[in-house]
Parts: sequence; C-alpha cells; structure tokens
Amino acid sequence: MSDRVVSEVVRGGTGLTVEDLVKEYKVGGGLFGRTRDIVQAVSDVSLSIGAGQTFGLVGESGCGKSSLGRSVARLQSSDGGTIRLGDDDITTLEGGRLRALRRRVQFVFQDPYASLNPRKSVRATLTEPLVIHGLHRGHHERRVEELLAQVGLNPAHADRFPHEFSGGQRQRLGIARALAVEPEVIVLDEPVSALDVSVQAGVLNLLDDLQRDLGLTYLFIAHDLSVVRHLSDRVGVMYLGKLVEEGPVDELYERPLHPYTQALLSAIPVPDPRAERARERIVLTGDVPSPVSPPSGCRFRTRCWKATEVCAAVVPLLVDHGDTHGVACHHPAERDVL
Ligand SMILES: Nc1ncnc2c1ncn2[C@@H]1O[C@H](COP(=O)(O)OP(=O)(O)OP(=O)(O)O)[C@@H](O)[C@H]1O
Ligand code: SF4
Ligand SMILES: [Mg+2]
Repeated sequence: MSDRVVSEVVRGGTGLTVEDLVKEYKVGGGLFGRTRDIVQAVSDVSLSIGAGQTFGLVGESGCGKSSLGRSVARLQSSDGGTIRLGDDDITTLEGGRLRALRRRVQFVFQDPYASLNPRKSVRATLTEPLVIHGLHRGHHERRVEELLAQVGLNPAHADRFPHEFSGGQRQRLGIARALAVEPEVIVLDEPVSALDVSVQAGVLNLLDDLQRDLGLTYLFIAHDLSVVRHLSDRVGVMYLGKLVEEGPVDELYERPLHPYTQALLSAIPVPDPRAERARERIVLTGDVPSPVSPPSGCRFRTRCWKATEVCAAVVPLLVDHGDTHGVACHHPAERDVL
C-alpha cells in the first residue's frame, strides 16, 4: 500500500519522483537451513524533486539515506516502487539503456577517492567519461580545462594526481567528474561531511552556483539538518528506513511536527549564547533498533516520549499538514525547538 497521502508534492516541474521505494539487503549465513536476515534499508519512501531544485535528505547513520541515493542513481537495483526521471520510468533499466542513463544521473560520494583513481591523472580521470559517452570528440583537452575551471580549480593542474590536491580540492574533482557528462540530476551523498568546516562552505557555494548556472537537480544527503538548510528547497527526514517528515525548507525548520525532527533540530546550536542557554534540548534515549526487525507500528516509538498504544499497532502514514508538509506521526504537534 502507498505510504503517502500527501496530495500535491511539488509545485512546478518535477525532475525526479520516487514512489514507494523499497530496498532490502539479505545478510547472514543461510547455511544449515537457516533463513537469511533481511535488512529493511528503505521502506516505502516517496518523494519528489522539482527540476532545478534541491531535496535535502537527513537522518542518523544507518537510516537508509545512501541506500535510497544509490537506488535513485541506479547504482543498485531496488526491491519495489518506482523511480521516474521526468516522465521516464528508470526503475528497471538495464544494459544499453542503463548506460545511457549514467549521462543523465550522476553520483558524488563522501569520499572523492570512490570516483577518482589514485593512479590516474586528473586529465585521464576526466577524459574517461567523455570517451565512454562519445562527448566533445576532438576537444577533450579543452573540455577538461573547462571542467576544472568550472569547479574552481586551476586548469594548469590537469596533469596532477589526486593525492596532490587537498581534501576540498579532491571533492571539487569528484564534482567535475560528475559534471563531465552534463547530467540533469546529481545525487550528492554527504559531499562535505569529510571536509573541515572552513572548506565546507566553499564546496556548498560551488554546488549552489553550479545548480543556478546549469539547472541541475540535486538529491543532497547529509547527517545534519544544519548542512542542508542553505541549499535545499525541500527537506526530508528519515528514520530506520522510513521518511518521517518532509516539506518546504522553511516550513520544516520553523514548524517541525514530528518528534524525531524536533529532536534533531533541538541539537543544532544557535548562534546567540543566551538563547542557546535558555533553550530546551531534546535528548533521545535508547539505541536505534535493528533494521532487520524494526518495531511494529511507528518505527520511532521505542525512543518517542509521546508514544501511545496506537503507535505500536498502526504504521503512521505520511499525511499532509498544509503547504505540502508531510508528517508520519499519530500525534503530530508543534513544539518550540529553535
Ligand atoms: N550492501 C549492503 N549489504 C547489507 N546491508 C547493507 C548494505 N548497505 C547498507 N546496508 C544496511 O542498510 C542500512 C542502511 O544503510 P545506509 O548505508 O543506506 O544508511 P545511511 O543512512 O547512508 O548511513 P550513514 O549515515 O552511516 O552513511 C544499514 O543498516 C546498513 O547496515
Ligand atoms: S507515531 Fe507515536 S511513536 Fe511515532 S513519532 Fe508519532 S507519537 Fe511518536
Ligand atoms: Mg550513507
């Protein structure tokens, strides 16, 4: 059954739509007649990203953000649901059609080395996708220099190797590699999490500029709600494989209705020290349950201070609470957390 009853998700054109996406992993032995465990990494998640917009996806480690991102970029298959790029269903593309999709949807990893071969020069790394997709034939040199300039690097450094760049510069190379094929959508999986705070802002500004100049659509994954705020049009919060709250960025930060979102927001420091001292912090107790056997009903109920009987019995659907603000909770209520 659809987990979503929000009427209209995005105003304007839709770049990418995910409906009831499911991703599971089989883990464990399977030996001596034992059944293998199934990790429910993504469970019936639906979201839409308007063309040229950014959807920020946040949640604690292990909640399924990368699983969703990898499935959306078709780096891995999914086990249910639909992924649409514009009007095209890309959920089960294979062979040549999947290779052609690589031009349209790219992925930027937290660790830039995942897309940079340490033994290849930057020129070789950036030329490779041009050759594979038959782009800029006869002009590869010029295109590589153009890509380096586009991400704020010196085109004269094209013959250097990845280790000769700083962490922030390497992430810029990862972005250049993604841009090489002129994609429409980029999935950014924690692109600044491994960088010093001083370097993060430069990379975030670069992503912002590229989006404006090239009309790119982003799925931007991060641990922390504070990182995605500046760049995002909409933000979604995941918990244990489920999207628990989702909405326009200002609405979500100013009127969070799900207890888990409220807890995450209450953990973000505010700049004014007096306001910071006066404010209530919601401390979550207990561990995140195993995604192999998540709690019945609401998956957050084992850590929720508002849980009632219905929370254990009935899975809360993501219901619209105005202005396309979806909340999956039986007892949503405003709470001043910032
Ligand atoms: N290839 C895999 N095989 C088995 N289990 C996996 C695999 N990839 C992820 N998982 C499990 O699926 C769940 C979701 O993992 P995922 O990496 O998507 O979370 P995440 O939100 O990206 O976490 P992080 O913030 O640490 O990157 C976790 O329980 C994880 O252990
Ligand atoms: S459904 Fe119940 S347990 Fe889940 S977040 Fe809402 S109040 Fe808490
Ligand atoms: Mg991840």
